[in-house]
Amino acid sequence: MGNSRSDIEVIYSAEAIAERMDGLAQEIAQLDSKKLAVIAILKGSFVFAADLIRAMHRAGMDPEVDFITLSSYGKSTVSSGTVDILRDVAIDVAGRDILLVDDVLDSGRTLAYAKDLLSARGAQSIRTCVLIEKDVARAVDIGADFRAFKSQNVFVVGYGMDMAYQFRELPFVGRVVNT
Ligand code: IMP
Ligand code: MG
Repeated sequence: MGNSRSDIEVIYSAEAIAERMDGLAQEIAQLDSKKLAVIAILKGSFVFAADLIRAMHRAGMDPEVDFITLSSYGKSTVSSGTVDILRDVAIDVAGRDILLVDDVLDSGRTLAYAKDLLSARGAQSIRTCVLIEKDVARAVDIGADFRAFKSQNVFVVGYGMDMAYQFRELPFVGRVVNT
């Protein structure tokens, strides 16, 4: 299928993303928690999380960082409705202040699942931060405490996000056209 970059329409450029990162970290730095544990939901959030934690450092924070791999999509662009843990966190979250980081808030199932999981394990507080909050009706009633951007109901790729395992390497957020 020869995915040339001309198949992707830029929604948020690399420059726009970089500009937003420090402001977002400043918002997070207003939390009164001293020692946040950032838990990035893989795989889609890995590029965002990498930029966000460095912006958090510039904002004077020193978070611990861990990862959880969840899956709800597989190769499809429509949420399957069930969330599976493919790989769990390593840290003990009991009593901790958590910042859950994900790429996209869409149906809400992934973030809600992660939040419930960490809450059941005794996390003291759980805040959520997403790169993109989609303007759609959620299947689960959950919002993001922090968001970099909003988007309409389009399937976005790039900046770590994939469509059928492609486009994660793009430095911008875009949408696939003509495919
Ligand atoms: P939700 O569980 O329906 O809220 O979907 C959130 C998860 O699905 C995110 O962690 C993303 O990995 C993935 N996802 C949702 N929408 C998109 C998209 O437009 N592009 C890429 N991944 C998406
Ligand atoms: Mg994801």
